[in-house]
Amino acid sequence: MYLVGAGPGDPGLFTLRGMELLRSAEAVIYDGLVNPELLRFAPQAAEVIYGGKHDRTRAVSQDEINALLLAKAREGKRVVRLKGGDPYVFGRGGEEAEVLAEAGIPFEVVPGVSSFHAVPASAGIPLTWGGVSRVTIVTGHDDPQSPSNKLDWAQLAGTPGTLVVMMGLAHIPQIAAALVAHGRSADTPVAVVSRGTTRRQSVVAGTLGTIASQLQQAQLAPPAVTVIGEVARMRERIGPGLG
Ligand SMILES: C[S@@+](CC[C@H](N)C(=O)[O-])C[C@H]1O[C@@H](n2cnc3c(N)ncnc32)[C@H](O)[C@@H]1O
Repeated sequence: MYLVGAGPGDPGLFTLRGMELLRSAEAVIYDGLVNPELLRFAPQAAEVIYGGKHDRTRAVSQDEINALLLAKAREGKRVVRLKGGDPYVFGRGGEEAEVLAEAGIPFEVVPGVSSFHAVPASAGIPLTWGGVSRVTIVTGHDDPQSPSNKLDWAQLAGTPGTLVVMMGLAHIPQIAAALVAHGRSADTPVAVVSRGTTRRQSVVAGTLGTIASQLQQAQLAPPAVTVIGEVARMRERIGPGLG
C-alpha cells in the first residue's frame, strides 16, 4: 500500500517516485483533487476507483474510504492511494496511515508538492520574503462565527507574517471580517488563487477590506488557496507574465 501525493494539479508537479508506483499499480484509489490526467499512467489492467469525499450522488465518509483501503490491501494488490497535494497536509493521509498501521498493513508514504506553497508560487507569490519570517497555515473550513470554529481568530489576527488559508473559499469574506475585527489592518493585501498550477488558474487580489466584494463579483471556483499578508502584493513585481 502506498499513500502517494499527487501534487497540486499540474501533472508536471507529480514526483518521480509517485509515477514509478502509479505505473506499476494493481489498484488505484484516487481522491477528488487528483488531476484525472494522471490516471492514464496506471496500467490498463489496474482497477481505478474513486475514493474521494463526494460521490456523484452523496457524501462519502472517511470510514467508508478507510474500509475501501483495507479491503483492497487485503486482496493482496499493490495499491496506490493517490491524494491531492501532499497526503499529510490537510489530506487525512495521517488518519488513513493510522488505519493501515492498526491493521498491520505495511505502507509507504510518498510526499507530494502541496498546494499550500505551490499554488501561491504559481501565481507569483513567495510565502516568505525579506522580513517576513513566519508562515501560518490554517483551514478555512469553518466560518469564524460558527459554533464548529476551532481556530482563535483573535490570535491569528495578531500573528505576524503570512497567513495561508486552505479550503473554505466561501468563508473568505467572514475570515477577512474576523481578522479586521480583531485588529488586522483592512489594507492588508490578500490574494485568492483558484485552480492553481492548472490552465484554469485565476487570481483575485485585493485587501482584507475589499476582498469580499471582489469575490462576489469574480465568482471564483474552488479549490482555492488564500494568501493574506504583505507577500500577496509581490505578484505585482514577480508574478507570471512579468519581466
Ligand atoms: C482537503 S485540502 C487538501 C490539501 C492537499 N493535501 C495539499 O497538500 O495540497 C483541499 C484544499 O487544498 C487547496 N488546493 C488543492 N489543490 C488546489 C489547487 N490546484 N488550486 C488551489 N487550491 C488548491 C484548496 O485550499 C483546497 O480546498
